Amino acid sequence: MKLGRINHIGVVVPDMDQAVAFWRDVMGATSFHEADVPQDGLNIIFVDTPSDNGLNGTQMELIQPLRDDTAVSPFLAKNPAGGQHHVCFEVPDIEAARAEFEAQGKRVLGPTRIGAHGTPIFFVHPKDMGGILTEILETPKEAH
Ligand code: CO
Repeated sequence: MKLGRINHIGVVVPDMDQAVAFWRDVMGATSFHEADVPQDGLNIIFVDTPSDNGLNGTQMELIQPLRDDTAVSPFLAKNPAGGQHHVCFEVPDIEAARAEFEAQGKRVLGPTRIGAHGTPIFFVHPKDMGGILTEILETPKEAH
């Protein structure tokens, strides 16, 4: 497994306007992006955090479910105020990473698919990952 940088930390939020106001007014964030590829049933906003080189800072991914049947709806039902949901790490080769997780018996959740950044992603079950729902994302070819 070739571990890359943390791309983003996923947070489920019950109210996107309130969440954006929090990151702007309390945390001082100045840069917000919608998802490059919309995800079904989800309102997603990425919040940039600064980086040393001015590029590719780690992001916070704010995720608001718009329906009761999304992947994050059960989490919000259990945590009505929202909260930290997953951590996303970059890898250079998504298929190699998937094969390595599977070879170690880790439960990969669903197919590899195109995530909100427009690059392939998959998730690994938190019970196989020290309690952390883990998203693996192929490093985008160009700086965003
Ligand atoms: Co994510």
